[in-house]
Amino acid sequence: MLALSLALAGTALAETDRVTPVQEDYARNCQGCHRADGMGAFGSVPRLRGFVGLFTQLPEGRDYLIRVPGVVWAMLDDERLTRLMNWLLATYSPEELAPDFRPYSVDEIRRARKRPLADVQQVRARLIVELQRRGLVPPGEDGLVSARRAE
Ligand code: HEC
Repeated sequence: MLALSLALAGTALAETDRVTPVQEDYARNCQGCHRADGMGAFGSVPRLRGFVGLFTQLPEGRDYLIRVPGVVWAMLDDERLTRLMNWLLATYSPEELAPDFRPYSVDEIRRARKRPLADVQQVRARLIVELQRRGLVPPGEDGLVSARRAE
């Protein structure tokens, strides 16, 4: 029994070693809704995978991403949140990023957090329409209809 617990403790340790702190920040603060694979939840939580980067194609979209409640109110300081947002985009949606995308700066994140969006739903809907109009998102797609369906 002791040998088994020691072996298990060893595994846990090895796993913690492999997880970098930024992934841990995602796991603790975002994954409950957006899921580990970034596929969200059908109709309620948008998928990040293969989608979230699209917003950076619009100036207002870049701003939108860092003013949604889940980001603004994250229990992380500005430095860690900046690192998390840049990691999230590079990990889940590198293909969709604007060609001239510049990573977020700590200052940009700090300022955005002072201006949380009051009308998230409306701003998001408007941005989706604009992405569709530009042919970047197919008609009917909004990142919610293509999120994970309950099994
Ligand atoms: C309680 C569930 C929940 C948690 C926790 C959460 N989010 Fe979200 N997130 C949402 C929902 C729902 C939206 C859609 C906009 C809205 O209604 O807020 C969203 C939108 C977003 C968006 C904009 C993309 C889009 O398609 O609208 C980003 C970026 C984002 N979240 C990142 C994060 C990050 C980073 C964290 C962790 C620090 C996080 N979220 C935690 C539910 C959540």
